[in-house]
Amino acid sequence: MRDRPKKRVAVLISGGGTNLQSLIDASLADDYPAEIVLVISNKADAYGLERAKAAGIATAIIDHKAFSSREAFEDSVHATLTEARVDIICLAGFMRRLTASFVARWPNRILNIHPSLLPAFPGLDVHQRAIDAGARFSGCTVHLVNAELDAGPIILQAAVPIAQDDTAETLAARILTSEHVIYPQALAWIAGGKARLEGGRLIIDELGSLPQAVIWPSA
Ligand code: GRF
Repeated sequence: MRDRPKKRVAVLISGGGTNLQSLIDASLADDYPAEIVLVISNKADAYGLERAKAAGIATAIIDHKAFSSREAFEDSVHATLTEARVDIICLAGFMRRLTASFVARWPNRILNIHPSLLPAFPGLDVHQRAIDAGARFSGCTVHLVNAELDAGPIILQAAVPIAQDDTAETLAARILTSEHVIYPQALAWIAGGKARLEGGRLIIDELGSLPQAVIWPSA
């Protein structure tokens, strides 16, 4: 028998859902500490809804445009999550900002993936901004969500080199590949109780060995 019940996870999406797919795929393993029980999209035509259905996962479409206020939209999302007895929320390409009061209802129980090496380049248009800054690396970050945009405690990051001829599109595609690796790992740590907050930093038990450095450009 398992020593810990699997955490019940809802994934919130607005689009294609490739990160959702990586979480679904990981959660199929017997020893993965989380199961995806619900996918919520604020857009009816999000392809991620098809991915959820193909995996036999319950879906809900909650269109923000159908509500008179952000709070009313979030109340509906909250009720749907509560009804499904969700423990952890994963934002995966969910293009709505959540209010501080929603976040306060789910303290340290919301994860987000952001396609930059935070705290560099929070917000939108991140790939073009990283290229324009002349950065040699960008990457992706999974973090806990707090009231501030893209600023909660960092769980896990991947550093991804920027090629000199990268466009925002080619860089986004390279980074997305790493997103699919780190999101399932980050959720496993949180759902498995392997991470704890210490003064705003997230400390993970049982880390692998520290790489010396990743150097780019190389001669
Ligand atoms: C990802 O790049 C994610 O980091 C960002 O939105 C994109 C969503 O892609 N927040 P997908 O829907 O998971 O394919």
